[in-house]
Amino acid sequence: MQDTLGRSITYLRLSVTELCSLRCRYCMPAEGVTKLAHSELLTEEEMITAVRAAASLGVTKVRITGGEPLTKPNILSICRQVCATPGISDTGITTNGLALPRYAAALMECGLRRVNISLDTLREDRYRYITRLGSLSDAIKGIESALSAGFDKIKLNAVLIGGFNDDEIPALAALTQRWPVDVRFIELMPMSGNTEFPPESYMPVSRVLEALPALQEEESDGVARLYRLPGAMGCVGLISAVSQHFCGTCNRIRITADGHIKPCLHSREELCLKGLDEAGMRERMIQAILAKPASHGVLNAFTRSSTPRSMNQIGG
Ligand code: 5AD
Ligand code: SF4
Repeated sequence: MQDTLGRSITYLRLSVTELCSLRCRYCMPAEGVTKLAHSELLTEEEMITAVRAAASLGVTKVRITGGEPLTKPNILSICRQVCATPGISDTGITTNGLALPRYAAALMECGLRRVNISLDTLREDRYRYITRLGSLSDAIKGIESALSAGFDKIKLNAVLIGGFNDDEIPALAALTQRWPVDVRFIELMPMSGNTEFPPESYMPVSRVLEALPALQEEESDGVARLYRLPGAMGCVGLISAVSQHFCGTCNRIRITADGHIKPCLHSREELCLKGLDEAGMRERMIQAILAKPASHGVLNAFTRSSTPRSMNQIGG
């Protein structure tokens, strides 16, 4: 279905839980989030009904997000059913990777073909700092499991943070020469809950081009501008979420774990899906698509996102 500006909505991001095994500083408060009651969450059946309703409106691509989706006990059942939904031809998951040694092969068996894994640094001390809890060697084991499971596409997501990992741009990009993966640098988005970053942390991804003059431009794909290092197996992607937003070509809607459909990542507006049947959900989705704003307005180091949710409550 098209919105009022002629943008075709073909991509659904489905957050299956707000909970996470990490507490990344740009995403979540240190104390984590209050666990929602079962009654506040979408049930597995409601999630699948929502995916069917979205497919009936022309959605073909679904990405399972969180929090950390692999902390959800019934994640495989959800993935299997999403992949089997008629009309859904492209399914992926976004994960911190820690549970991939246990789950990678099973996710492939469910029919999932793409995995995005967070990796902001290659230094153990920095990984522990930014995730507050995690260990870099566990994340690397997760990436290796994904590589051996044989996904069609593996993308590593690095949030670019001035004064934290901007000196690691070459090392992170070099992973595309070591493994058949894309490495994507994402601009830090100022959300209501991540106020600890000083203005100089907000760095445009153009900094990556300055750090790597050897990058050669390739045809772009979705929100990332793509480049390649000489001889690399994968691409370096730049996601300029803040310096140059891509609202004009936005093709997505989002569903939160507590059953709200968000017309826009950065707006307050939400419509509730909980308790509705497929026809009811379809109606709400039409309303949400028609309510998509032209753009999310100003977003920078001094003007935070209008949504009161933190990223783990939306799914990125
Ligand atoms: N800014 C940019 N990206 C973010 N992510 C989470 N929070 C933010 C933020 N504030 C992205 C990270 C992570 C994915 C789950 O969401 O890239 O890999
Ligand atoms: Fe968890 Fe991902 Fe948020 Fe980190 S960015 S706290 S891994 S959901």
